[in-house]
Amino acid sequence: MDGIDLDLMRKKLASELTEKRYVHSLNVADTAVEMARRYGADEEKIYLAGLLHDCGKSYKGNAAREFVKKIGYQPDGIELLQPGLLHGVIGEYLARHEYGVADPEILSAIRWHTTGRAGMSVLEKIIYIADYIEPGRNFEGIEAMREEAFRDLDRCIVLCAGSTIRYVLENGYLLHPKTVETRNHSLLALKALNIS
Ligand SMILES: [Fe+2]
Ligand SMILES: [Fe+2]
Repeated sequence: MDGIDLDLMRKKLASELTEKRYVHSLNVADTAVEMARRYGADEEKIYLAGLLHDCGKSYKGNAAREFVKKIGYQPDGIELLQPGLLHGVIGEYLARHEYGVADPEILSAIRWHTTGRAGMSVLEKIIYIADYIEPGRNFEGIEAMREEAFRDLDRCIVLCAGSTIRYVLENGYLLHPKTVETRNHSLLALKALNIS
């Protein structure tokens, strides 16, 4: 991709994330590229989006709140109380201004990878899913997710969002409505609802 030096980008990312988070980022990028092959998506774009999806992750708590204030983003009440949710917004900004990414599809995938949103593009869906299933992850239900990731994106998203919702409930956190919208949208796309 024009003007993008991947080695330089990886070096910068490695200097800004913990080792564990950096390895996770490489894994997400590689997993996302495998999925891109399966779904005929742009492998270069997907790699970049996967690599950078957590580039805003080092801003936590008040640092995250102050960062988004500075860039003019108005957090909702849940984001203010759980500022970890802001790392997609921060990541989008950093990707654009510090890593030189201009492609709106890549920026949007970074922006929305945490909660998802209704009506994601294929690229956004792949990043959202690869974040769950990369080889460093291990939790109950992941094998079904890994299989579905290469079979049907919407079915897989229903599994991923469901897993997040269960995690949020079990830990007593606030559930972000975007996570619910993500699940509902993919479920409706399956036309598998049995409502009478
Ligand atoms: Fe993330
Ligand atoms: Fe991640």
